[in-house]
Amino acid sequence: PCIPGTVNPGQTGVIIGHRGYSSRAPENTMPAIERAEQAGADYFEIDIDYTADGVPVLLHDDTLDRTTDGTGRIHDVTWDYVQTLDAGSWYGPEFVGTKVPSFEEVLDWLQDADIHLLLEYKGDWPNPYLQTTIDLIEQYGVRGKIIAQSFNFDIEDRLNRLYPELPGMLLVGGSLPASVVDLVKQYGQIGINPSSAPGPEELRALHEAGLKVFVWTQNSASAWANLTALGVDGIITDYPGELREWSEAY
Ligand code: G3P
Ligand code: CA
Repeated sequence: PCIPGTVNPGQTGVIIGHRGYSSRAPENTMPAIERAEQAGADYFEIDIDYTADGVPVLLHDDTLDRTTDGTGRIHDVTWDYVQTLDAGSWYGPEFVGTKVPSFEEVLDWLQDADIHLLLEYKGDWPNPYLQTTIDLIEQYGVRGKIIAQSFNFDIEDRLNRLYPELPGMLLVGGSLPASVVDLVKQYGQIGINPSSAPGPEELRALHEAGLKVFVWTQNSASAWANLTALGVDGIITDYPGELREWSEAY
């Protein structure tokens, strides 16, 4: 599996394009994903949810309204309907005609791509729908390129039981919770992804336990400098190309 190696203070960890290269192309679409790869990101992050007829698709929100020309909750509409939608024109005229990708389309692309996937399961996922995503990952032979993550620890727990071969990370808002090493181990995860910098002691304890920390969603050079000085294992950013250039000059 694509678990990154040890990062020391003063080293930039892996670079993860948030929702693809979402400062350059509409989030969670193929143009954003392709641009993350072209920019030299190590991973791209995407959000997945599923349609009423059980097709896993890329979408951040519960509803289609913000990022497509459609409307309604993704759980209430069919894949046939989603395929008719435009997921690019809201972002800019050059992206007119961009579609909502199915998860399968992304996995098909990933087979030959020079990038890894940080896969966020949004909302709730009954086991049969989790199994659909597992079957697709196996069908396309891309298990070794994927780390799963979710704010919903129950999803991570069930995923880990159904598919222990797939590494997973807990996702949390804010700083790291108390007893973080025990928590991550309890859920059988390889690490945890907070939205703010860990303390040096917390990070050291996690590293000593062999666990990883990716921090989201960090878009400023001052944040990149702080996280690199600490030695976090990955930085999730809307600006993966800029972070790549910044880290090469660091
Ligand atoms: O990867 C972490 C980050 O994506 C979580 O927040 O709302 O952007 O999905 P959100
Ligand atoms: Ca996300």
